[in-house]
Amino acid sequence: MILVENVSHAHGPNRVLHDVSLAIPRGGVTALIGPNGAGKSTLLSLIGRLLPLQAGRIHVDGLPVDATPGRELAKRLAILRQDGAVASRLRVRELVGFGRFPHSRGRLTAEDRAHVERALAAFDVMGLADRFVDTLSGGQRQRALIAMAFAQDTPVLLLDEPLNNLDMLHARELMRRLRASADAEAKTIVAVLHDINHAAAYADRIIALREGRVVADGAPCDLLTPETLSVVFGQPLRVERIDGTPVVLHHL
Ligand SMILES: Nc1ncnc2c1ncn2[C@@H]1O[C@H](COP(=O)(O)OP(=O)(O)O)[C@@H](O)[C@H]1O
Ligand SMILES: [Mg+2]
Repeated sequence: MILVENVSHAHGPNRVLHDVSLAIPRGGVTALIGPNGAGKSTLLSLIGRLLPLQAGRIHVDGLPVDATPGRELAKRLAILRQDGAVASRLRVRELVGFGRFPHSRGRLTAEDRAHVERALAAFDVMGLADRFVDTLSGGQRQRALIAMAFAQDTPVLLLDEPLNNLDMLHARELMRRLRASADAEAKTIVAVLHDINHAAAYADRIIALREGRVVADGAPCDLLTPETLSVVFGQPLRVERIDGTPVVLHHL
């Protein structure tokens, strides 16, 4: 459960979040959408405590993020950052092993190693496990970073643009896995997605930000209409339905 109450944030003189409140219950996939600069990464970074809270309150599983020891929070919440910066002279298996750090403090147990191997297999990076991260393609690196986040084995996952650099089939595979993790393991997943159609097909809920404010919040079927998309993106977009799922024809 993620509870965000009256959160505002400024980067220097620029206020980029204005009094944002939302509650995300346990178990489910929530897509965070909105134009570039809307404040999506700032919001995710505040929830994941990559940025200090300036105003408002955030609780994850009942714990206030600004007053909980980092290691406690890291057992409950993993975050995939948008910039994906990693130390380069690291092999993929070591990188994914870092995901176990909150549990192992650096000494991997057999259980930690099992989590690492499962994550390597799940995101199709087992064949790359002994490669240095800086020799990977963008999509391969992204999958390694996602595997690291999953290896942390937390009930809450915050993923900032997880589909970046992924090809069509790896993107679909990731979305299916997010769906399965939410359904079978009751994980709470919040993902920033630019591909609205992935959000439509796999998310339970879409939260739309624009200029630092929540401007729409609801189930994909209700939210993905030309009118609402116009509020979010400033332009009407064509929406069709295929087998009941909305499909936004943004290229037409
Ligand atoms: N470290 C920073 N310093 C100054 N401005 C920032 C910083 N990070 C983000 N911003 C600004 O805050 C606004 C929101 O950014 P961000 O949360 O990254 O948006 P989004 O992820 O929705 O594209 C943007 O105008 C961006 O330029
Ligand atoms: Mg962003």
